Amino acid sequence: MSQVVLEASNIRKSFGGVRALKGVSLELQRGEVHAIAGENGAGKSTLIKILAGAVEADSGEIRVNGQVVENNSPEKARSLGVGIVYQQPALFPDLSVAENIALAGERKNPWGRVNWRARREHATTLLQRVGARIRPDALAGELTIAEQQLVEIAKALDATPQVLILDEPTAALGEQDAENLFRIVADLKAQQTTVVYITHRFEELFRLADRVTVLRDGNSIETRGMTGVTKNELIRLMVGRELTAVFPDRLPDLGKTLLEVRALSSRSQGVKSVSLTLRQGEILGMAGLIGSGRTQFAEALFGLAPVDSGEVLIEGKTVQIRSAADSIGLGIAYVPEDRRKHGLVLKMPIAANTTLSSLSKISSGGLLQFVEEHNAACDFSKRMSVKAPSVNCIAGNLSGGNQQKVALARWLMTEPKILILDEPTQGIDVGAKAEIYSLIAELAERGMGIIMISSDMTEIMGMSDRILVMAKGEVAGVVDRCEATPEMVLEFALGHPARVLEGQGV
Ligand SMILES: Nc1ncnc2c1ncn2[C@@H]1O[C@H](COP(=O)(O)OP(=O)(O)OP(=O)(O)O)[C@@H](O)[C@H]1O
Ligand SMILES: [Mg+2]
Repeated sequence: MSQVVLEASNIRKSFGGVRALKGVSLELQRGEVHAIAGENGAGKSTLIKILAGAVEADSGEIRVNGQVVENNSPEKARSLGVGIVYQQPALFPDLSVAENIALAGERKNPWGRVNWRARREHATTLLQRVGARIRPDALAGELTIAEQQLVEIAKALDATPQVLILDEPTAALGEQDAENLFRIVADLKAQQTTVVYITHRFEELFRLADRVTVLRDGNSIETRGMTGVTKNELIRLMVGRELTAVFPDRLPDLGKTLLEVRALSSRSQGVKSVSLTLRQGEILGMAGLIGSGRTQFAEALFGLAPVDSGEVLIEGKTVQIRSAADSIGLGIAYVPEDRRKHGLVLKMPIAANTTLSSLSKISSGGLLQFVEEHNAACDFSKRMSVKAPSVNCIAGNLSGGNQQKVALARWLMTEPKILILDEPTQGIDVGAKAEIYSLIAELAERGMGIIMISSDMTEIMGMSDRILVMAKGEVAGVVDRCEATPEMVLEFALGHPARVLEGQGV
């Protein structure tokens, strides 16, 4: 017998002029994994923030175990058994893990004294439950994103929730951490906890979810059982139309060698003797497991980390790169993985963010031309379908995926010679992905050389001209797209003996 634990009906929410939710309803059953799917800006995060009491709805009703929830707040939701882990971890970086966990739940003893030992032991138990090997005394700010996320989950589990909400929990996780998370979800489900799961990854939807509710444009479109739905049907529900080809048809026209890296090593980054070449108009896919050293290599190449040995040549000339400024001066741009942290000024409007790195393009006589800034930003926002009423909106108010798009636009606009993209479509919905792919293809067509780091095999196979696979800080193999198979890439990624196919010019 299924039993409804939480029911939200006709929830509406506007932020100023933006109608984020236009009457959304959702029903959660006990012990189910209920996915919420939809494009960037569809309203997923807003909905769950309302359920968790972090955002107040304009109207609508929430019932938990049949009882109407009045004056919802984070404390109230928590006491009713609704736990949440947000899209971005929000721990206090200067507090220890144990303190962060304690902040949410701990009851003080009457004298207001803290029992440090109990606090640490309690944290240890919770951390063990989520399979995290983290010291309770470690400062939260020193943890990796994956570890921070586990702490957030541990924190949420502390209140023994009946409903645990996870907003894109795997977006920043590697394979192993993601598997660990899937195990936690399965455990919770086995204990009859309801899990609400938001993701843009279809494999996860099909693997984990029992049912899915699709949101589109602030409306709940449909709730379906996962067994009775296909990926294409889901895409149609999410996008509202049939999606044609996701990957652009490219006929790469390769020019001269733009970049040559010879045996680049960086001890601090764990990068060992990486060599590669990149030609004009080429998209070099960089595959590998998380932690294989791809980002570390990119950071060293870009001048964000020290290089111990090796040589970098740009258009045949040896260059010295000691800082990001050197790289930018040489025509290299790097779009990092964690774009929220490195890519955007959240308090500034979309327009200013888009043009932040290309001010000379929109200035004349040292003066910023606001009309040009506006037009350039509009152009990019339109192409990448950034969902916002105008480019004057503050970037911090955009949905997670839309922030990603603006950060990407900022670097694309610099029109570098060499563009390094780290996980360019992470957190981006299926419709917008196609647009970003065609934009990347267009840049390559105009002669840019592109290194695309990606953990998404379909993306690697669909976009690359050549695929370089890293494992343990080294190049494990290089294959031409026409010869590559996902199995081959995976084999290299797992660190099987390097077997560079002939004629790949490394
Ligand atoms: N604090 C805010 N102020 C203004 N607008 C907001 C605010 N929070 C959300 N919005 C807007 O509400 C809409 C829904 O955003 P929401 O974050 O719920 O989307 P989402 O479905 O979670 O998208 P994503 O997949 O990109 O995370 C977006 O248009 C967003 O810009
Ligand atoms: Mg979101």
